[in-house]
Amino acid sequence: MKRIAVFTSGGDSPGMNACVRAVVRTANYHQIEMMGIMRGYAGMIENDIVPLASRSVSNIIQRGGTILKTARSAAFMTPEGRKQAYNNLVQNEIEGLICIGGNGSFTGAKLFYEEFGIPCIGAPGTIDNDLYGTDFTIGFDTAINTAVDAIDKIRDTADSHDRVFFIEVMGRHAGYIALAAGIAGGAEGILIPESNDDWEKVVNMFTGSHKSKKAFSIIVVAEGEEHGGAMQIVEQLKQIDPQFDARVTILGHIQRGGKPTAYDRVLASRLGNAAVEALLRGETNKMAGLVNNKVEFTSFDDAIHKTKKLNADLLRLVDIFNT
Ligand code: F6P
Repeated sequence: MKRIAVFTSGGDSPGMNACVRAVVRTANYHQIEMMGIMRGYAGMIENDIVPLASRSVSNIIQRGGTILKTARSAAFMTPEGRKQAYNNLVQNEIEGLICIGGNGSFTGAKLFYEEFGIPCIGAPGTIDNDLYGTDFTIGFDTAINTAVDAIDKIRDTADSHDRVFFIEVMGRHAGYIALAAGIAGGAEGILIPESNDDWEKVVNMFTGSHKSKKAFSIIVVAEGEEHGGAMQIVEQLKQIDPQFDARVTILGHIQRGGKPTAYDRVLASRLGNAAVEALLRGETNKMAGLVNNKVEFTSFDDAIHKTKKLNADLLRLVDIFNT
């Protein structure tokens, strides 16, 4: 291969820039020309493709967001869109791709390879940590630290006013952010899509004869939890007990920004490097991940379709600490 391209796709995550840097510097080390595709698949279709010299990624390792920008492209889901993207890659003499993104991004890359034979290796860039084949995704550690920082602050006011707070965190359909941030933030309860009995525990904590005697409480709720988020949960608890009173904070996109933690920078650097070297070895349709602190490759198929199990020991901790 003489020339390859990198792009970031889907929701941004802190550490994507560190990963872009690692990809560009690794390509440079192996004397491969590097291009950057702006705004993910959208830029591939619109031929928004720029050269990325080694120095062009100076001073970005510490920055949140992505210098390549990102998008969720509806046009790439059409055969015409993908054909246009292919034509642009051929015109730019791009022989391989590095995709930094999540589930949807890898689904697109896999389909694109099947149709046009452009090899692609992925690096897991999402705060959700919901990809099979890696213990951590790039951005997760920063996101949970941001969430914990917010929880700590809310705890101060919750304590002062003897109030109950329901704090909703991101994570799409998964509860990884809620579980980690909840434990690190000392939450009394955590509501996640992966657990069946957590709702009952929270209901018992606040209503009926087994009510908790604690003056204030922090409950962390995953946005994908089946009761429809923190607002709805408080409404439902009010219906059970009209005396019930609580405040709701939805942390939202603050969890996607900010400078990446050292952990995310190291993870992004390792996986960006591994992704390029795998592509140069002739591999394709695989995601570079970290499993037990070793870089491992997982097929896009498995990364997308297999479910990464939540650590049951962590769930147990919440019960033990709040008995
Ligand atoms: O996948 C990352 C994520 O931040 C999810 O946690 C969240 O559900 C979603 O993206 C939000 O997407 P958008 O930025 O398009 O609103």
